[in-house]
Order: sequence, then C-alpha cells, then structure tokens
Amino acid sequence: MPDKPLLEIRDLHVGYGKKPILRGASYDVLPGECLTLLGANGSGKSTSLNAVCGFVRPSSGSVLFDGTETAGLPPHRIFAHGIAQVSQARDLFPDLSVEDNLRLGAMRRGGRELAGTLAGIYDRFPRLKERRRQPTRTLSGGEQQMVAIGRALMSKPRLLLLDEPRVGSRRNSAKRSPRSSTH
Ligand SMILES: Nc1ncnc2c1ncn2[C@@H]1O[C@H](COP(=O)(O)OP(=O)(O)O)[C@@H](O)[C@H]1O
Ligand SMILES: [Mg+2]
Repeated sequence: MPDKPLLEIRDLHVGYGKKPILRGASYDVLPGECLTLLGANGSGKSTSLNAVCGFVRPSSGSVLFDGTETAGLPPHRIFAHGIAQVSQARDLFPDLSVEDNLRLGAMRRGGRELAGTLAGIYDRFPRLKERRRQPTRTLSGGEQQMVAIGRALMSKPRLLLLDEPRVGSRRNSAKRSPRSSTH
C-alpha cells in the first residue's frame, strides 16, 4: 500500500484580483518526501506556497493536510496544524539577536523542550551558535537564511515549505560576485 499523502493539492485556482495565476494545480507530497516546484519567474511557485500557508486565499480547489481541509483558513490556524514556511524575503527581525529570532519560531509550542530544540538547531547550524548573541542584521545573506530555516524548524513542523532556499547560498553568491575585471 503506498503512503497516504501528507499534503494533497487538488484543482487549485488562485489569482490576484481578476488575474488568474494558478489554474487547476494538483500535486501531492508524501510523508518524508522532498518535492521541488520548478518554473519560470512569475509562474506561480510562491503563490502556490502562499496558498498552502494561507497568505493568499484560493478561489477554488482543495488543500488537504493530513486529511484536513485547510484551504481558506487564516495563516495562524494553518501554522498550528504544523505547516511552516521560510519565505523568500525571510522576514527576520533584523535588530533581534539570532537566538531571539530562533526562539520566536517556538512560540506556538510554549516553553516545552525549547532548550533541546534550540540545541538541535545549533548542532545543525554551528555558525548560528557562534553568532547567537549578534543582531541578525550583522549576518551574511546565507547565514540569515540559516536563521530563517532554523526558526521554521523550531516550530517542529510536519511540513516545511522553502521558497527559493538557495538564494544567498555560497554557490549563488559566487555567481553574483562583484563584477570582475572584464568590466
Ligand atoms: N500580491 C500580489 N498581487 C498581485 N500580483 C501578484 C502578487 N504576488 C504575485 N503576483 C503575480 O503573480 C504572478 C506569480 O508570482 P509568483 O507566485 O511570485 O511567481 P514565482 O514565485 O513562480 O516567481 C506574477 O505575475 C506576479 O507578478
Ligand atoms: Mg517566487
């Protein structure tokens, strides 16, 4: 028997005003599966993730999370079901320390096992442990991406949505390095 999908998107329609963007999107995410959405700029990848998180409201269609219909619920209710998103903008609090940004991710869980979860994030991202007392704005783009991913993981999500997670990574930064001597 194949696994039951954790996320089932069926015939999803999403638009802004009268402009349709998603016209009948359907896809599944199985438990433990890592699914990548590929598409040209402006094709609706972020719109799709935002519809799953509740930041935009689908005009029709279904978003089933572990069998529960979540389409149209407000973002905080969807987050409470265990879906976390790292948006492309990261939406960190630049003047708060790295650790305070991380702790905000666990607000939904209260103080429970917070220290253990934080230690797990620092194991995964030792760079953040070194910089835990620094204002987040003083970190590089890639390091801030680690904070944003770490903050989402602090909520112990069952489904993690990453929008353009490689933006700011070393390989991408190298491609965008300052113009070379050919200019
Ligand atoms: N808040 C918004 N209001 C109006 N149009 C939007 C909004 N967000 C995105 N769009 C439009 O929707 C289309 C899809 O955008 P988006 O989902 O961000 O694409 P992608 O992430 O694949 O690059 C684009 O044409 C974009 O201009
Ligand atoms: Mg996008």
